[in-house]
Amino acid sequence: MGNRIYLAETNDLSEGTMKNFKLNGQDILVALINGNYYATDSYCPHMGGALFHGKLEGTIVTCPRHGSQFDLRNGHVVRWLKGTGLITSIGKVLKPPRKLTTYPIKLENGKIFIEQ
Ligand code: FES
Repeated sequence: MGNRIYLAETNDLSEGTMKNFKLNGQDILVALINGNYYATDSYCPHMGGALFHGKLEGTIVTCPRHGSQFDLRNGHVVRWLKGTGLITSIGKVLKPPRKLTTYPIKLENGKIFIEQ
């Protein structure tokens, strides 16, 4: 069973946005989408792109570095690297797709907790 750790206030986020929070030296990305909160690692599992600087469309975040996309609900890879050229193909072989780590969220009295 994981530890429940306070992360933020629910009103630190507005609907349809995502934000980076620090938690014991670790960066955690939290998004509020359709009234649901999601928490994941803040950095892309490809080469560490800052996902909080990426684009959020629904529950899909696009990495600002090479365009990989992840579903914040479960961390699944929607697209691994943008493009279809030789360089992208080689990149996919050298670094195969890796899912984004997600963390369960608990809400209590206007506070967001995650379990690690
Ligand atoms: S660092 Fe995110 S796609 Fe490369």
